Amino acid sequence: MHAGEHGHEPVMLDQVLSILQPRPGEVALDCTTGRGGHAQAIADRLGPAGTLLCVDSDPENLAYARRRLEHTATNCRFFHANFAEISDVLLAAGMERIDMILADLGVSTNQLLTSRYGLGFSVDSPLDMRLDPRLTHSAADLVRTLSEKQLGDLIFQNSQERFSRRIARKIVEVRKTSPIHTTGQLAAIIRSAVGPTPFGQIDSATRTFQALRMAVNNELTSLQSMLNTLPNALKPAGRAAVISFHSGEDRLVKQAMRQWQTDGLCKILTPKPLTPDELETGRNPRSRSAKLRGVIFSGPQAADVPMN
Ligand SMILES: C[S@@+](CC[C@H](N)C(=O)[O-])C[C@H]1O[C@@H](n2cnc3c(N)ncnc32)[C@H](O)[C@@H]1O
Repeated sequence: MHAGEHGHEPVMLDQVLSILQPRPGEVALDCTTGRGGHAQAIADRLGPAGTLLCVDSDPENLAYARRRLEHTATNCRFFHANFAEISDVLLAAGMERIDMILADLGVSTNQLLTSRYGLGFSVDSPLDMRLDPRLTHSAADLVRTLSEKQLGDLIFQNSQERFSRRIARKIVEVRKTSPIHTTGQLAAIIRSAVGPTPFGQIDSATRTFQALRMAVNNELTSLQSMLNTLPNALKPAGRAAVISFHSGEDRLVKQAMRQWQTDGLCKILTPKPLTPDELETGRNPRSRSAKLRGVIFSGPQAADVPMN
């Protein structure tokens, strides 16, 4: 997995910048600052008169980004928050409306590769998955306490895993005799429920891990709350760009943007979602599932931004 110098490669950077069009002196909010790759490029364009508000639910990634952005000329401010809380962030920053918002959803490569987060199964690690230490329930808690039906529904709804029922049944059967504490244990249980991964396909445990991660971190409900707040956070002619990595997220983003456009609030800049080119997917295979959507809200400068 390509992690680059900073532990994560920003995805579709040029396309993000062409949607957001950061200009000197503007104010931007990066909802998912991560390792600061997109943030750095945005800050470079906002210049010394600009302000960049950096949010992340993972304090460790936020601390990394703070160090990375320390020497940029832009005024960067950092907030440990869930992006569902962006109105509180703006309040804390003393701002009502800003010029642009970026959300690059999901997890960063370093989070996937660091065993402490318990997100992956290539290294056996505690089955945790919490990005935000404020969260009270880990993946191990869900696997221990949910009923077979609840587990099956969660796996199917979050990842469309077609063997969700079989996997849930196996988890419940195994946990009766041995508690499931680690990512390696869970991956082995999933593989024993659905059989070995056919050559060339993604590991049979991948979808269930994604589904659990989404549930632990309340990913879809947080995204929906952020989308509900977003129009009130932007100035006239404000821009928003959202990168999603699976169909559940992309559906919410597409629906929200269409509704804003129907309500006359914005113009969609990406009638079809943008995707990374072959050069990028070759260099950074994690970018393969990325879909980028962008909008510009109504206002005096809306005509300046090129549509595609
Ligand atoms: C794909 S990474 C972003 C990478 C970043 N754009 C960069 O260039 O380094 C996603 C980041 O969003 C954070 N995150 C995920 N869900 C979040 C949420 N609901 N609120 C705030 N941050 C979130 C993760 O902790 C992670 O650092």
